[in-house]
Amino acid sequence: MTIYHLSTECYPVAKVGGLADVVGALPKYQNKVEGIDAKVVMPWYNKSFIYNHEFDIVFDGFIHQGPTMLQIQVLKEKTNVLGFELFMIKIPGLLDRENPYGYSDENFQFIAFQHGMLHWLSAMEIRPDVLHCHDYHTGLIPFMIENCSEFAFLKGVKTIGTIHNGEYQGNMNWDMAKYIPPFDYYKWGLLDWKGQINPLASMIKCCNAFTTVSEGYLEELFISFRGLEGLVRQEFGKAYGIINGIDSEVWDPETDPMLDFNYNIRNAVEQKKKNKEKICKEYNLKPELPLFAFIGRFAGEKGADLLPDMVWRSIKQSYGALNVIILGSGDSYIENKLKEYDATYTNFALDLGYKEQLSHRIYASADFLLMPSRVEPCGLNQMYSMRYGTIPVVRYTGGLKDTVADISTGGAGLNFTFPGVDDMIHAMNRAISLYNQKELMTNLIHANMNFDFAWEKSAEKYLKLYSNS
Ligand code: ADP
Ligand code: GLC
Repeated sequence: MTIYHLSTECYPVAKVGGLADVVGALPKYQNKVEGIDAKVVMPWYNKSFIYNHEFDIVFDGFIHQGPTMLQIQVLKEKTNVLGFELFMIKIPGLLDRENPYGYSDENFQFIAFQHGMLHWLSAMEIRPDVLHCHDYHTGLIPFMIENCSEFAFLKGVKTIGTIHNGEYQGNMNWDMAKYIPPFDYYKWGLLDWKGQINPLASMIKCCNAFTTVSEGYLEELFISFRGLEGLVRQEFGKAYGIINGIDSEVWDPETDPMLDFNYNIRNAVEQKKKNKEKICKEYNLKPELPLFAFIGRFAGEKGADLLPDMVWRSIKQSYGALNVIILGSGDSYIENKLKEYDATYTNFALDLGYKEQLSHRIYASADFLLMPSRVEPCGLNQMYSMRYGTIPVVRYTGGLKDTVADISTGGAGLNFTFPGVDDMIHAMNRAISLYNQKELMTNLIHANMNFDFAWEKSAEKYLKLYSNS
């Protein structure tokens, strides 16, 4: 079975968040199953965003997007060290930019990416068994292959859509329809949601089956989904929740080359302490106190707006009984407030930006990882932290509900229900009291490291879904 994963991100080539981690790992694990050939297709960004590898040009052509003619090249990674074949769609002047997102013409960019990809497959007569579309950026594919005459060769290929984040749907005005390759206009309803072209809605309508990255998140989408709840309820027969795994080859504290001190479950307590001491020294924190960490985008869905107040109140209220370290970037109000506190409080450290190695070092050093998310379709941070023996303190939502059970219910993490500073601080106080019970802490570190988030199980579920859809 040949599967093409279509995505705007793929670790280690281009990563903005968890989507990259999933697309960089799932095909690798699928390929371990006999008879499976999973590949990835993504845009070619500016060279500086791309890791150091060699590519061959395997296709060179043109597409017409409305009146605009675009050159399209397909590049294939040469060495195949990723565990899957990687193809990149290069559209000079349009896709080869510094960042995957954030441009004012991004609707045009994503239509071109999808159009270019399908043009290449049709022109080369490559007919995969499954096109697996990730998020709204590739959400028009199921519509296009069934309804655009240009892709008649691909008609009938199975399409699976995965919703990593339903907060973003890619809505655009109907005047953008002229850029979608010609289709029967009486099919417009398959693109439309509430008077706009909505790629995520179109994906749900047109695919053979769609998944969310946890069961907990799927349950939530039936109730509230930024206007699409009625649609998921209507299409519930083809909706599945499949939890993400983690790439245990990349995320292994015993072999992770990004750590200062590697460890396994037998020496985790001592080695984590050494990692913590090193980070604390670097950031002027106090290694004898519990270390709470947050890593992520400063966005409302991550509950990042609660961080400044949390820092201010927890450090004041606990009379200096804890350290907090935050790595991330995003909303400028949050960044500025945190910078101000960084300059004021000795027990608080802030590192602004996207820093892959530092994130690994923090997972290995912290005692507790904070995730006050308002919305969390799956969440990978909690799984990485657990694998590194760091206890997750999470808001009970989406994928966090499915992966982190509270110690009061026999789990090895801490939950809180309301996304507010009071509830978060209450959970942090519970964490501080755990920190002071050394034997219990050791047991919790071990219990977290023992959790099995291996991709194999979920990769298998996707394969079953491909066969049965
Ligand atoms: P999302 O994709 O919604 O941001 P996930 O929990 O699925 O959330 O994945 C986030 C991924 O991005 C994790 O691999 C996390 O370690 C990483 N990450 C987030 N922010 C940063 C940062 N500032 N520096 C390094 N890695 C980060
Ligand atoms: C999205 C979600 C996150 C999930 C990731 C990978 O970015 O916000 O919760 O873990 O996709 O599926």
